[in-house]
Amino acid sequence: MTVQTRSAAAKERTTLPVTSRASAPTIRLATPDDLDALVALEYAAFASDQAERRAIRHAIRSGSMTVLVALAEDGPGSEILVAAATLERRRGTRSSRLSSIAVSPTRTGSGLGGIMLEAAETDARSHGCTALRLEVRADNGAGIRLYERHGYVRFAVIPDYYEDGMEAWRYEKAL
Ligand SMILES: CC(C)(COP(=O)(O)OP(=O)(O)OC[C@H]1O[C@@H](n2cnc3c(N)ncnc32)[C@H](O)[C@@H]1OP(=O)(O)O)[C@@H](O)C(=O)NCCC(=O)NCCS
Repeated sequence: MTVQTRSAAAKERTTLPVTSRASAPTIRLATPDDLDALVALEYAAFASDQAERRAIRHAIRSGSMTVLVALAEDGPGSEILVAAATLERRRGTRSSRLSSIAVSPTRTGSGLGGIMLEAAETDARSHGCTALRLEVRADNGAGIRLYERHGYVRFAVIPDYYEDGMEAWRYEKAL
């Protein structure tokens, strides 16, 4: 499996090896052609607080953000988008924020979330980041389990963070 990493000038030219697993999905940077599939994934994976189409389009184009997509075989010569992860970087900090990670509901529970998380960490490192931070709903058992299993440490609780008033748990991992 390889992950393409974004530089402001040449988003699609660099490739980094990450891990190699049998029948692993292909992970690459999102392009504008992925927009429809990314919007569909967003609404399939999240019951609330979905990112709007224009926000996803902005993320794909932004030089300070990375959108990674995972593609799996869907028949001969055909691939389907099965997962995505979005990262944001802020000038002047060496911390990257994982603003979203989503796996197609038909593919959860098979390790894809972990693969995307590792790809996100590789992307953050490739941009010189020394830490990755994220927020997760306090009632998101699968997300919390995923992050804690990968060494993320909870360092803050933000009350009333999501649309329905649910609190967010903030996690960080040193890279
Ligand atoms: C969170 C998410 C990315 C995990 O993806 P995944 O492919 O299922 O992840 P993995 O298979 O690598 O691991 C999931 C872990 O959570 C566990 N899990 C699954 N559902 C769970 C639940 N309801 N409660 C507690 N743990 C759960 C799994 O057992 C697994 O842990 P294990 O490997 O120790 O057994 C996926 O469920 C998803 O897209 N959810 C909707 C979007 C979302 O909530 N994103 C995260 C917040 S931004």
